[in-house]
Amino acid sequence: MNFQHVTVAGGGVLGSQIAFQSAYKGYSVIVYDINEEATGKAKERLQKLQANYIEDLHASEEEVQTAFQRISYSSDLVEAASNADLVIEAIPEVIDIKTDFYQKLGSVAPAKTIFVTNSSTLLPSQFAEATGRPEKFLALHFANEIWLNNTAEIMKHPGTDENIFDEIVEFAKSIGMVALPLQKEQPGYILNSLLVPLLDAAQKLLVNEVSDVETIDKTWMVATGSPKGPFAILDVVGINTAYNISHAKAVATGDPTYKKIADVLKAEYIDKGKLGAATGEGFYNYPNPSFEREDFLK
Ligand SMILES: NC(=O)c1ccc[n+]([C@@H]2O[C@H](COP(=O)([O-])OP(=O)(O)OC[C@H]3O[C@@H](n4cnc5c(N)ncnc54)[C@H](O)[C@@H]3O)[C@@H](O)[C@H]2O)c1
Repeated sequence: MNFQHVTVAGGGVLGSQIAFQSAYKGYSVIVYDINEEATGKAKERLQKLQANYIEDLHASEEEVQTAFQRISYSSDLVEAASNADLVIEAIPEVIDIKTDFYQKLGSVAPAKTIFVTNSSTLLPSQFAEATGRPEKFLALHFANEIWLNNTAEIMKHPGTDENIFDEIVEFAKSIGMVALPLQKEQPGYILNSLLVPLLDAAQKLLVNEVSDVETIDKTWMVATGSPKGPFAILDVVGINTAYNISHAKAVATGDPTYKKIADVLKAEYIDKGKLGAATGEGFYNYPNPSFEREDFLK
């Protein structure tokens, strides 16, 4: 199938990025959101994204303006879905909201339309039935700052048609992503299945006073050749997010080490305004964090 018309449902942080990237690569895109206020906000986000493409990718004014003009907006699902080859869902990470959305979408979209979810933590099999077309439904998961972090994890559920899966792999490549296929459902996809245990282990070493931030990062960097250690990565993720994850795990499991991690992140970092790279300070100071210094690995 040759996709031409892409509808992105949800014009928030990720939806607006997916919409702009798809338009930048030549697709005609409709951003669907719940009401005109929300589509207005999406349009503002898309307006701002143009500067990122110029600065980070050296795109020309003309290129970004052409991309912006390929995007239209709708708060009417019937209109937004009526001609879509593909609907990319990037609405809130709430089971009831997504289930309700897929039920409505499934009843108004034409039979040809493929649906993909950008959900980070929910599995496509949770919504396959609600879509009414499980064979044409799967996950297509992007990373924040899609124009720079261009991974696309493509994950089927047991009922996804193999040809549809292949078409989404090709679509992901066509919008400049590195396509990363997953043949089975896996919570956290590939990236978080690798990253979360690493980040957890690093924080446990720290709060159990086995070693310090710089030594732990240095160990990882020297031993694996990686440009960043786990605490440098946590600074990019943001300390608030790291806190929320450990806090939730402490509540869910009762594991005292997760509670200790959450307590340390709150008292030593969040309460002191050290929220990560975006705010200039987290585990390291920015710009020019010490782990980027030439003598750091000595
Ligand atoms: N933020 C990230 O870093 C990130 C990364 C990868 C994947 N995701 C996933 O992308 C999805 C969206 O996340 P986000 O961070 O962009 O959220 P967000 O809160 O920034 O945006 C959600 C958008 O959905 C709209 N919305 C709410 N209900 C809707 C409905 N019923 N129909 C249509 N639109 C509706 C909201 O108005 C809002 O514009 C989630 O599933 C999340 O797991 C997020």
